[in-house]
Amino acid sequence: MRSTLFACLVLCLAPLGGCSENSSPPSSADTSAQPSKNGFTIGMSQCNLGEPWRVQMNSDIAAAAEKNPELNVVFKDAQNDTLRQRSQIEEFVTRKVDLIIVSPKEAQPLTEPIAKAYEAGIPVIVLDRAVNGDKFTTFIGADNVMIGRAAGQWIADHIKDDAKIVELMGLMTSVPGQDRHRGFIEGLAGKGEIIFSADMEWLEPEARSEMDSALARFDRIDVVFAHNDPGAHGGYLAAEAAGRAENMLFVGIDALPQEGVAYVAKHILDATFQYPTGGAEAIESAVKILNGQSVPKKITLPSRVFTQENVGSGGELLTEPATSRRPPQP
Ligand code: FRU
Repeated sequence: MRSTLFACLVLCLAPLGGCSENSSPPSSADTSAQPSKNGFTIGMSQCNLGEPWRVQMNSDIAAAAEKNPELNVVFKDAQNDTLRQRSQIEEFVTRKVDLIIVSPKEAQPLTEPIAKAYEAGIPVIVLDRAVNGDKFTTFIGADNVMIGRAAGQWIADHIKDDAKIVELMGLMTSVPGQDRHRGFIEGLAGKGEIIFSADMEWLEPEARSEMDSALARFDRIDVVFAHNDPGAHGGYLAAEAAGRAENMLFVGIDALPQEGVAYVAKHILDATFQYPTGGAEAIESAVKILNGQSVPKKITLPSRVFTQENVGSGGELLTEPATSRRPPQP
């Protein structure tokens, strides 16, 4: 029944090799992949499906698309490979899909193919990780500077002045990594000392091994701030294995119910800040665009904070005092 309402197509096209065997939404192979006669084909390029958050994004897109039977979504997994993701966008253009949704791995290398698709007349929704310039239809994501700043402020409120901090950063060639770091520094406002920072590329195993290095180098670590929950969890596992997790604070970002929020409920993390996937909002915008309506150039999603105190009651909406608001980032 589901498949008659919503055909979710996965392309496997040599030599692109850009398809995933494990894409989360229901899938059926389609070798023609032409725009459907009675509807619209949306090409969706996901930068990887190795993290629960991205699997969730695809599910959110699939669930929202299912409510719009005129949409066919072609999901592609770039498997964390920038060149593969570039090829996927180019292929969507060649195949003349009606609209592209892309969650890019990193900004600079994806900017050009996205701009070319847009200039070829295909509407492009950039989701979660921004690209450079303005050659796309709309960008949808939460405010990473604000989230980083809120995490910095929360940590500053929970540490001594001389606290020693480890920062496990997301991929620093991606805009969320850069923005979360910038916000974090602003939020700390000089409190504590960052004694170790490393790019864990958003990945739990890398975070764990960077944390092993930090533990080996520093006898005192009070706080681990990671740019996402897999990173915070990796940091926790390393500290736990070294018998040093007990007195440390662990703070992450994403707050998936089954991941970060569950970690807070289990006292593994002390706080997590939500980064919504934007999957449902992307489909909402896609429907508007495909029906000739205009959408804002930038759609900023709200975020929530989950702590030991509020996790039982669904967290708390993140707001900033007007004085600390910054203009939206490009
Ligand atoms: C998943 C992820 C999330 C993070 C987002 C940032 O790949 O690392 O954990 O919030 O990407 O773009």
